Amino acid sequence: MNSPPFWPMQEGINEIIASVGLHAAPIGVICRDNRIMMAVYRTSHTASLIEKSGLVVANILHDPVLFVRAAFSDLGPDAFTEFEVGGRQVYRILSALSWVVYQAKIDQMTEQKILVSLEPIQTELAQSEIVPINRGRNSIIEAAVHGTRYVLNRDPVLKQMIDHHVTLVKRCGGERELEALRMLENYIS
Ligand SMILES: Cc1cc2nc3c(=O)[nH]c(=O)nc-3n(C[C@H](O)[C@H](O)[C@H](O)COP(=O)(O)O)c2cc1C
Repeated sequence: MNSPPFWPMQEGINEIIASVGLHAAPIGVICRDNRIMMAVYRTSHTASLIEKSGLVVANILHDPVLFVRAAFSDLGPDAFTEFEVGGRQVYRILSALSWVVYQAKIDQMTEQKILVSLEPIQTELAQSEIVPINRGRNSIIEAAVHGTRYVLNRDPVLKQMIDHHVTLVKRCGGERELEALRMLENYIS
């Protein structure tokens, strides 16, 4: 049976937690026009680690607390498990539902970002959870994206967007989203 293109990613931008070694941060995996890419800010640790390693693991998971923690701090070694791919030690997040190990090649470098092309070399589907859409969960992810820029520039327009999403997290989220929100509010205050 043929797998859909990009499997298990979908066309568009897939929000995953990228791990390189024992370091993790949320990053979007962009799947378009038969290409798989990441655009990573050069100011991030993730960018320099990808440059050095040439491998990146895309951890697919839905836990908003992990997304917020990985965006603003270090997960700590206990969050990871080690495995081997082609004779190299790689690490994935222990609670990932699925993960893809990608070979990563820097295609383009601008002043702000590196554009990385990705080629899957190992894919594992550990668990397929049924995840109904929850606007609170979507909004905590949106607020975290804006929050990672807001801590750098304190742009009031970003703060307005964060506040909009905070309202939705409070209205539509569950306990895990509310815990992630408390963490986010701390990180960006
Ligand atoms: C859902 C989500 C998606 C993100 N996507 C990207 C991305 O595609 N590229 C990027 O450079 N930063 C992205 N970020 C921001 C990084 O995760 C953030 O800058 C992080 O602090 C980088 O960590 P590091 O410096 O430890 O690598 C995203 C953040 C979130 C919450």
